[in-house]
Amino acid sequence: MIPIKSKQELIKIRKAGVQVAKTLRFLKSKVVPGITTRDLDEEAARFISRGGGKAAFLGYRGYPGHICTSINEEVVHGIPCGRILRDGDIISLDVGVEYEGYFGDAAITVPVGKVSAEAQRLIDVTREALYKAIDAARIGNHLSDVSCAVQQYVEAAGFSVVREFVGHGIGAHLHEEPQIPNYGVPGNGVVLEAGMVLAIEPMVNAGTWKVEVLSDGWTAVTKDKKLSAHFEHTIGITKDKAEIFTTA
Ligand code: MF3
Ligand code: CO
Repeated sequence: MIPIKSKQELIKIRKAGVQVAKTLRFLKSKVVPGITTRDLDEEAARFISRGGGKAAFLGYRGYPGHICTSINEEVVHGIPCGRILRDGDIISLDVGVEYEGYFGDAAITVPVGKVSAEAQRLIDVTREALYKAIDAARIGNHLSDVSCAVQQYVEAAGFSVVREFVGHGIGAHLHEEPQIPNYGVPGNGVVLEAGMVLAIEPMVNAGTWKVEVLSDGWTAVTKDKKLSAHFEHTIGITKDKAEIFTTA
């Protein structure tokens, strides 16, 4: 069963979402060549706690960071460390915040300094794929219409969608039903209803869709070591069009 949120719950998820969005906006301003992902993690930890929230990823199934920082061929779940960001890298910043017992989750991919035209196009296509998915997340549509919207847009642009990782329901827990793949044919799965809250997160690769997880047990990388980008929003099926909760 997919939980339907009450008005009171939606208010709390909105608050969590705003904290996530503010943290991402702050972190984006810190991304410059020379900074380490650990610096970003520490900045995030301070920013989130000053906002009155809790970093939702820390300790989740033993995850050691406050946020995820995934560079270049890293797809998701990169662990912050001493690695220095270099001009031309791209980095995905993934932030989850728990606020008054409710969760928000979002991710952006940003260029470090000046990046190649192809890297920028990968970022732009991934962001747009997320917005296509959000547009398909409407009352009465099927869940797989959302998945299909991502796949169609991404593959038409010549990129591939990751299959091993999915978006998810969210609210009183970081991960709830349903799982939301980024590929599929339309008309399958549950029918979307008012009160559902979803974290939609396309992960898009420049080359093969295949990924593998490094020996740290977390970092997912592309099999061919080509670039990958990731965007995520927490949204609510609250009215005619979905409402994006992770905006500041
Ligand atoms: N946005 C990611 C997800 O929903 C981040 C989770 S990182 C983890 O799975 F450490 F919390 F697993
Ligand atoms: Co997520």
